[in-house]
Amino acid sequence: MKYVLGVDLGTSGTKTVLFDQEGHGICSCTVEYPMYQPQNGWAEQDPQDWANAAVTTIRTVLEKSGVDREDVVSLGISGQMHGLVMLDEQGQVLRRSIIWCDQRTQAECDEIHARVGREKLIAITANPALTGFTLSKVLWVRNHEPEIYAKCRHILLPKDYVRYVLTGDYATEVSDASGMQMLDVPNRCWSDELLGILDIDRSLLAKVYESCEVTGHISEQAAALTGLSPKTLVVGGAGDNAAAAVGTGVVEDGKAFTTIGTSGVVFAHTDKLAIDPQGRVHTFCCAVPGAWHVMGVTQAAGLSLKWYRDTFCDAEKQAAQQMGVDPYDLMNKEAAQSPIGANKLIYAPYLMGERTPHLDADCRGMFFGLSAMHTRRDLLRAVMEGVSYSLRDCLGVLNEMGVAPEQMLACGGGGKSPLWRQMLADVFNCPVATTVNTEGPALGVAILAGVGAGLYSSVPEACRAMIHVNPAQQPIAENVPQYAKVYEVFRKLYPANRDIFKALGQL
Ligand code: XUL
Repeated sequence: MKYVLGVDLGTSGTKTVLFDQEGHGICSCTVEYPMYQPQNGWAEQDPQDWANAAVTTIRTVLEKSGVDREDVVSLGISGQMHGLVMLDEQGQVLRRSIIWCDQRTQAECDEIHARVGREKLIAITANPALTGFTLSKVLWVRNHEPEIYAKCRHILLPKDYVRYVLTGDYATEVSDASGMQMLDVPNRCWSDELLGILDIDRSLLAKVYESCEVTGHISEQAAALTGLSPKTLVVGGAGDNAAAAVGTGVVEDGKAFTTIGTSGVVFAHTDKLAIDPQGRVHTFCCAVPGAWHVMGVTQAAGLSLKWYRDTFCDAEKQAAQQMGVDPYDLMNKEAAQSPIGANKLIYAPYLMGERTPHLDADCRGMFFGLSAMHTRRDLLRAVMEGVSYSLRDCLGVLNEMGVAPEQMLACGGGGKSPLWRQMLADVFNCPVATTVNTEGPALGVAILAGVGAGLYSSVPEACRAMIHVNPAQQPIAENVPQYAKVYEVFRKLYPANRDIFKALGQL
């Protein structure tokens, strides 16, 4: 039996899973790390934490599984997208990574539009300039930390930094590189035209591969640290959403998934390039060679619930520890005791600004309609509903583009909650299913690794053989109109507050 490894570098932690060649998870290990928020709207992580977590989790799954290292044929890495890692001539990290949910770069986005032109930028990169994407972060460092920019010789994404640590290669792949906003997305290569206009040296960027292509193998040094064989191949891998698509079998037209991880995403595969002219959803290359995907993003999905847990749920955390359960299970039970609409309380999940559909770095979260009768249960339910309404906003834009999935797959930490899945089914008015294997992105990149190593002939073929879907949760007929009424009020909150958010930001 041969084995493949999937490493999923998330925002809250890195999870590594060892799979056999039939896609059964054999052993997994997760290591968490912090996110630093030095200012309101800023978010950074330490690339060394990612590297340590990858090494520790790989070593642990190998040791725990007892699998012979020579049988681990290949490895894929899935990563939180857009984060900026800058290395000097010697490959040393120059500063903490500015990650995807950081919102400091509105002025740089304006600079990009002014220099390139919004229309040309969308024609080349398939997206308008966004604070979340890597390009505006590169310009921010050039504008604010010129001494660091002067020393920079390599610009990498989070997972590609871990690849560098494991293999010594500077490489990336099309799905994650799409989110750097320097890739010509229709043609799947760096855009010399864009780099020229913005005066960015192409040699700073890594070689681009397709997601299932082999980019190198484990170095002797990394083999000693991880216990892997130097013969183990490393494939391109994918951005976390493109990886989740492979891990849920969303690799053909008509298929879609929703993920509630730190961010929330509604994602649909498309064999033909499709771009929202208003730029409210992203178009990126997907992990299937020659295909793309469109996706809407809610910045703070699981992050909203995690924020709520860490700020207000010490009691649940303690009780959960005593009972040996997950605090989120207790929080779910409490939320289920509040009715639909949380007794007329609405939460807007804009803790880190918002992407789809508002594209606004300055907006912030709010509880709307607080009353003296509300309890923590209502607040909790409102958080879960507010995230679901925001994901409904994402689905609405996809619907406008003619993408209307008949069934939605749910994944990510939030997708494990039956309450949240039912909410999505009722708010989307669409059946919501889960896959039997819930490893999502880790399984996705393990499949890509298997394709790269020749264990499977293509990504869709591997998915057809290995991904199995559980029966879907159907929308509950009487709930659908009740959520729809609350959603109509939710939709009015952002436009009514847009200018006030700006005033707040300028205080
Ligand atoms: C996608 C995005 C997030 C991150 C973190 O554009 O920014 O989904 O990949 O998970």
